[in-house]
Amino acid sequence: MRSHYCGQLNETMVDQTVTVCGWVHRRRDHGGVIFLDMRDRDGIAQIVVDPDTAEAFANADRARNEYVLRISGRVRLRPEGTQNPNMPTGLIEVLAKDVEVLNTAATPPFQLDEHGKVGEEVRLKHRYIDLRRPEMIEKLRLRSRISHSVRAYLEGQGFLDIETPILTRATPEGARDYLVPSRTHAGSFFALPQSPQLFKQLLMVSGFDRYYQIAKCFRDEDLRADRQPEFTQIDIEASFVEEEDIMSITERMVRNLFQEVLDVELPEFARMPYAEAMQRFGSDKPDLRIPLELTDVDDLMKDVDFKVFSGPANADDGRVAALKVKGGATLTRKEIDEYTKFVGIYGARGLAWIKVNERARGLEGLQSPIVKFMEGVVESLLDRVGAEDGDIIFFGADKTTIVNEALGALRVKLGEDLELYTAEWAPLWVVDFPMFEVDGNARLQALHHPFTAPSCDVETLKANPAEALSRAYDMVLNGTELGGGSIRIHDQAMQQSVLELLGIGEEEAREKFGFLLDALQYGAPPHGGLAFGLDRLVMLMSGARTIREVIAFPKTQSAACLMTDAPGEVNGEQLKELNIRLRQKAQAETSENPAE
Ligand code: AMO
Ligand code: AMP
Repeated sequence: MRSHYCGQLNETMVDQTVTVCGWVHRRRDHGGVIFLDMRDRDGIAQIVVDPDTAEAFANADRARNEYVLRISGRVRLRPEGTQNPNMPTGLIEVLAKDVEVLNTAATPPFQLDEHGKVGEEVRLKHRYIDLRRPEMIEKLRLRSRISHSVRAYLEGQGFLDIETPILTRATPEGARDYLVPSRTHAGSFFALPQSPQLFKQLLMVSGFDRYYQIAKCFRDEDLRADRQPEFTQIDIEASFVEEEDIMSITERMVRNLFQEVLDVELPEFARMPYAEAMQRFGSDKPDLRIPLELTDVDDLMKDVDFKVFSGPANADDGRVAALKVKGGATLTRKEIDEYTKFVGIYGARGLAWIKVNERARGLEGLQSPIVKFMEGVVESLLDRVGAEDGDIIFFGADKTTIVNEALGALRVKLGEDLELYTAEWAPLWVVDFPMFEVDGNARLQALHHPFTAPSCDVETLKANPAEALSRAYDMVLNGTELGGGSIRIHDQAMQQSVLELLGIGEEEAREKFGFLLDALQYGAPPHGGLAFGLDRLVMLMSGARTIREVIAFPKTQSAACLMTDAPGEVNGEQLKELNIRLRQKAQAETSENPAE
């Protein structure tokens, strides 16, 4: 129907006759001449419709925003003074000969260029209209280029794209499962995969050697800006590899991707053990663009006259840490109060601070609600953090996990609020993760997943599991965990021991992972891999603030789709076929469905 996309037209086509199709972005009536801004996925072009072409003019006259038109005409240079150098098509316009209305449109729920005036809910409900916005098209186009680049790279490295099932058994990655009832096996359920983890390992046992898949994953977990219940992984696995092999292949993939798609040369990837990341940044995904660090001051606070500090300083699981912000003494009382409220979200019970107005004046030169309790150690404290005039020092004192979370988050917030970034991109590998973490019930949980190999042998692992490190690695970019992976257990006895340590007895292990344990007996090669969150990668590369912006049809915070109204109720007949009776609804179902 068309000869060109609207956005493709430019001054090299002057005097050519072209046909474009698209939507009316804006229509202006200028004293007898009608201007139409026609939009398609490639951009916007200006069309001029003159009353001389009577039929075209009549059609243009009845066109409204978002009508679908097909227009033929001649490209000409815009008159002097009406050119728009900021627009790719801004030097030309099309003088229309034919204007055909292909479809009308009801008044849209919001004007595309006024989308900011309506809430995200309205936009999600009418997502097909929201997706007409050039920024949205740009993000999805970028997403397509990213997956293309990744595919081309991995294919070039000998990876095979193999699909794995969506209807499967639980694949434990730490979240709740989405379940699908089986009609043919009454009372049984499929689980949607939290990741293709087990299948990709089985493909290694089969000898495929190098696998990848751009795979949908499903996790019923609390949602955040960078989490969706249904998301996409770039999933990778290879055999006869060690950590360095996987890290180097995937690092080159990401480097190549940034080069190809953004023309960005990523800086060197830092490497940091997990323990160091927690110590210095309070986070296992530190944003290294921000030049702020946590400093331990437990030793100084053991004997101070302030229980809030001396308590955690003397406790095994406590931490007292300082966060110095250069030049931060200009923060107002109100701002400090707001940061105090902010750390409260992470369980901190306060946010002590010292403003260093003039160090040379000793205590006199400081301003703080807490120095009076610790006069004897103040000088050592200021030396320890390297305090200078004009700085502010914040403190966290509590259980180590709370201090890390609170000050770690405060660090990121200060970096953002005070625009402290020292680089555009700060990639790193976090390595040497603990094998397990101890949960609230004193039970061990896998920090990565139960198929990750420990760095030690079985005996050492069993002797002191809480201290064992794993062969896992995470790729972090600008404070976002882009991907995580590990070298896997390929030995059945080791796998069984790890499951036991996780409190999964032999019978349960058989029931849940029997197929994996069996497969490990039949010649499983050493193998390992990694999975990237594609949505997060696109979010970072496009500068979006949430992954919802880079997913065509995302779900809301409560894991629903406002457009289709999913999840939805199903009728009694369907439930009956699936052998399901709803608890609260049992009454209603029976009366609706007398056959029950
Ligand atoms: P992991 O659970 O770390 O590892 O997931 C890998 C990456 O997937 C992304 N991700 C998410 N993105 C959006 N929404 C979510 N709810 C979500 N959850 C995870 C993150 C994360 O880094 N099977 C292992 C990988 C492996 O060991 O090879 C796994 O799934 O970017
Ligand atoms: P208070 O004695 O409760 O008035 O607290 C004195 C200062 O210590 C205030 O600035 C509080 O915000 C701060 N504070 C209280 N509890 C903590 C804590 N657990 N960690 C850091 N600062 C705290």
